[in-house]
Amino acid sequence: MNTEIIRIDKTEEQSADVQRAAEHLKNGELAAIPTETVYGLAANAFDSEAVKKIFEAKGRPQDNPLIVHIADVSEICSIAREVPEKALRLAAAYWPGPLTMILPKKDTIPDEVSAGLDTVAIRMPSHPVANAVIRAAGVPLAAPSANISGFPSPTAVQHVIDDMNGRIACIVDGGDCEFGIESTVVTLSTPVPRLLRPGAVTHEQLEAVLGRVDIDPAVLNPLAKGAVAASPGMKYKHYSPDAKISIVKGSFEEYLAYVNAHIDEADYALCFEGEEDLIPLPCVTMGRQDDPLTQSHRLFDSFRELDALGAKNVFCRAPSEKGVGLGVCNRLYRAAAFTFLNVKGKITGVCGGSGSGKSTVCAALAKNGAAIIDADKTAREITRKGSPVLAKLAEAFGSDILDENGELRRRLLASRAFADREKTKLLTDITNPAIIALCRERAQKYVNEGTDVILDAPLLFSSGLNEICDRTVFVTAPEDVRVKRIMKRDSVSEEEAVKRINAQTEEMKLNEKADFILENGENADIDEIIRNSELQ
Ligand code: TXA
Ligand code: MG
Repeated sequence: MNTEIIRIDKTEEQSADVQRAAEHLKNGELAAIPTETVYGLAANAFDSEAVKKIFEAKGRPQDNPLIVHIADVSEICSIAREVPEKALRLAAAYWPGPLTMILPKKDTIPDEVSAGLDTVAIRMPSHPVANAVIRAAGVPLAAPSANISGFPSPTAVQHVIDDMNGRIACIVDGGDCEFGIESTVVTLSTPVPRLLRPGAVTHEQLEAVLGRVDIDPAVLNPLAKGAVAASPGMKYKHYSPDAKISIVKGSFEEYLAYVNAHIDEADYALCFEGEEDLIPLPCVTMGRQDDPLTQSHRLFDSFRELDALGAKNVFCRAPSEKGVGLGVCNRLYRAAAFTFLNVKGKITGVCGGSGSGKSTVCAALAKNGAAIIDADKTAREITRKGSPVLAKLAEAFGSDILDENGELRRRLLASRAFADREKTKLLTDITNPAIIALCRERAQKYVNEGTDVILDAPLLFSSGLNEICDRTVFVTAPEDVRVKRIMKRDSVSEEEAVKRINAQTEEMKLNEKADFILENGENADIDEIIRNSELQ
């Protein structure tokens, strides 16, 4: 098919260019037209044969309904069966503009438009060219975005030409689209109005007119398996560039630290304007960080740009979800298949008595690449020869706890420190702050690179190390199992094993404060237990 491309600068309804575009529509053909959101692929909404051509040209699934575009509020009555007062208030506030309302449908609208639903989507665009073409055609126009299904919505005429040339009768060139993401879709056919697709008219703006408006969970989350989409369009895989996009949440500094630590894993950055020079990757930008309208304007174009560059793995900055940012995030999260990278690693503190199998659990938890920090080893490090902690201990417990080389006589210190409660407290008051400081410093390094940390700490709670953890795990096992494990591991008698366990009774009580309690009994499959817990 020969596609006529008509550039329209003058937008009087009577202008020859506008009339030519309208002629195609009156003849039952398709015309791609600019709107303030994205380009639309229009057909006479009352003509089911013309509407069928839209689905053919786009390769669009038949069960995804279209939006009907009008040029005057009064036309709503020829399309909707009922027009609630709320709809009129919304129209007064935001029409013409990037807002679509779902209302009960009149029979005049063919099933092809509404995909068999009892409701219909209606919008009055503000773009002067769209407005003029609708008026000149003399009928409401059904129009989805003018892209091949599964591709990004077109925000410039060249995008439409790329996708639709030869497939449709006419493409109207009206320059770049202002908003760049599709209209806000709100349904008024539920008891509480519901935001189905966020756009340039924000949730806050809807609530200012309507009172409470619910946000459909599918706006920022993947649709749960088997769930029915409130808006059929949400169930389809939307456009994502050929590259895998991973979103790095956090501040720019955190983003940068992540990129630096994982530089081999990406070939492009999708970032905000002005950040390019600081990021050590080739960059594509998507607007300014503080201005979501510039982000929406650029988003789809930036996807097409990444594809043209052949990008494979993209580290993307996370925009704010506020205001128009909700619409930006809705499109971006889908394009990224909801892949988020943790800027900051998590610190998981693990405690458990002797023989509970704490170390096995730590190793299992670290399988996904987490680093293990052993608090006992740190305790030994801070009492190394010449350390300030050692000097304090000598002062408190007698200088003879150091041998002639200045090394700590651990047994002697233990015999003095564990003689009574007060002495024990004196010991921990001296050592704990240094242990915590060293563990914290080490953990922080990993965490800043996005690496998770497993902190293996027998005295997690009594030492106060739990304070530096994001979550805590207590590993337990029945006493007889623990006794057996200790006897085997340390080649000690049953009596000795029981004695050790009894010495830890108080510590075990503290451990019960942990966020997670893992039963590591005799035949426990610890990987399976972790998989089934919320630890992963
Ligand atoms: O900005 C826009 O809205 C653009 C321009 C061209 O106006 N159009 C557009 O159309 O984005 P389309 O077809 O790509 O998206 C229409 C969305 C789909 O997600 C569809 O499922 C939803 O609106 N929709 C249409 N009728 C509906 C209905 N009766 N109930 C629920 N959702 C509906
Ligand atoms: Mg679309």
